[in-house]
Amino acid sequence: MGDLTLLILAAGKGTRLKSTLPKVLHQLAGKPLIEHVVEAAGPLMPVATCVVVGYEAGRVQSALSHLSLQFAVQEPQLGTGHAVQVAGTFWKPNEGDLLVLSGDVPLISTQTLQRLLDQHVRSGASATLLSTRLKDPTGYGRVVRRMGGDVERIVEHKDATDEQRRIPEINTGIYCFAIADLAQIIDGLSAENSQKEYYLTDCVGLLRKQNRRVGVVVCEDPAEVSGINSRGELADLERIVRQKKLKQLMEDGVTIIDPASTYVEPNVQIGADSVLYPNVFLEKGTIVGAGCQIYPNVRISASMIEDGVVVLDSCLILESHVGARSQVGPFAHLKNHTVIGSQARIGNFVEIKNSRLGDRTKAAHLSYLGDAEIGQDVNVGAGTITCNYDGTSKNKTIIEDGVFVGSDSQLIAPVTIHRGAYIAAGSTIQEDVPEDALAIARSQQVNKEHWARKKRESRRKE
Ligand code: UD1
Ligand code: CA
Repeated sequence: MGDLTLLILAAGKGTRLKSTLPKVLHQLAGKPLIEHVVEAAGPLMPVATCVVVGYEAGRVQSALSHLSLQFAVQEPQLGTGHAVQVAGTFWKPNEGDLLVLSGDVPLISTQTLQRLLDQHVRSGASATLLSTRLKDPTGYGRVVRRMGGDVERIVEHKDATDEQRRIPEINTGIYCFAIADLAQIIDGLSAENSQKEYYLTDCVGLLRKQNRRVGVVVCEDPAEVSGINSRGELADLERIVRQKKLKQLMEDGVTIIDPASTYVEPNVQIGADSVLYPNVFLEKGTIVGAGCQIYPNVRISASMIEDGVVVLDSCLILESHVGARSQVGPFAHLKNHTVIGSQARIGNFVEIKNSRLGDRTKAAHLSYLGDAEIGQDVNVGAGTITCNYDGTSKNKTIIEDGVFVGSDSQLIAPVTIHRGAYIAAGSTIQEDVPEDALAIARSQQVNKEHWARKKRESRRKE
């Protein structure tokens, strides 16, 4: 097979989304639309990939800067044919074939693209287009075939006759062209049509006029090639992607109590016998082990949850790691690379930032632990706060193994509580505590005998 160059059209504004964000950057299943397209085409091993940008070009380019792509800027946007013309310097010098994709058709699969490419190469056609059949083809370009079935041209809905509008077979906007043949005709497009645009679709008619072969591959699943033009269509595809993922998880042994209200991104992994309750969101490559229970209203993003973990209601876990058989929540917040050991317990209203907690350590109620290094078998009492920020910089709190931190203590960082020490409840600790010591750092209690009774009596006399 010869060289393949990819061209992704993404210069349009997406007027019907009524958004300041360019259409191809709208998110589907946690990723911009266009990234889905780039990923689907990646395995075809293109020699180069060029994205045609226009509306908010800079914004699209910087959103895609982590991918190795080239860009052509189309300004103004005079149609899909014009977009391919503008990118000519990128594809014309190459050998082989050009695969043209739309940045707004995100669910296209690698297999379908491979099928298109295989047939294109095998048949030696000048162009091969991907079509599908729709119950309601309104708005799409129609594939006009001759008697006998050969493709003659594509006619846009707005330019079609009533008879042509009855054709159910539509152009998906995805095509393969032999570069040498496309280069001969691409500058011959005209904008004499209802939209005064240069249509890429007219290339089909031009090639046929030169008696060149144009093939068609039909995609049987219209969802795979549906483009996004409105927020409604975006939500429709979101639902399709989500249901497919949930179905796969259930087949793999995950219990999903209510698939209609469970949101799991495609790149998330979950082990067997885990249970997801309603309103759970799992995002950004999160891995959940086997036998976990994730209760309602939990969002876990870019995190690792080991086997047998229970996450109780209403927790937020971001970029963190929870060790096996630990329990988190309800209402806990873990973030910034927090690492919790195994069999630990993080309870109600506990926020943990950029900290490590060892195995079997407990912080069960109302705490803020930030930039802390906490060992194993530590008890962090209710209301414990690490005072990690002095107004300029963040400081570290170190709590070694087996420490008992009494309730309502403040630990003013930088500070170290050595192994086995006790902190009396209500202490404000600002100096290191030695191993096995008891630290009491609170003002002493004074009991004034009979004070209250005397006060009552003096009031009565008045
Ligand atoms: C296009 C096809 C139509 C097909 C449909 C499938 C043409 C003329 N028509 O119509 O036959 O049925 O897709 O979805 O091609 N773009 C540019 N520069 C431009 C115009 C568009 O880069 O000047 C990009 C858009 O950003 C988009 C893609 O090309 O990613 C398709 O453009 P769009 O305006 O959505 O074309 P349709 O009217 O949907
Ligand atoms: Ca479109």
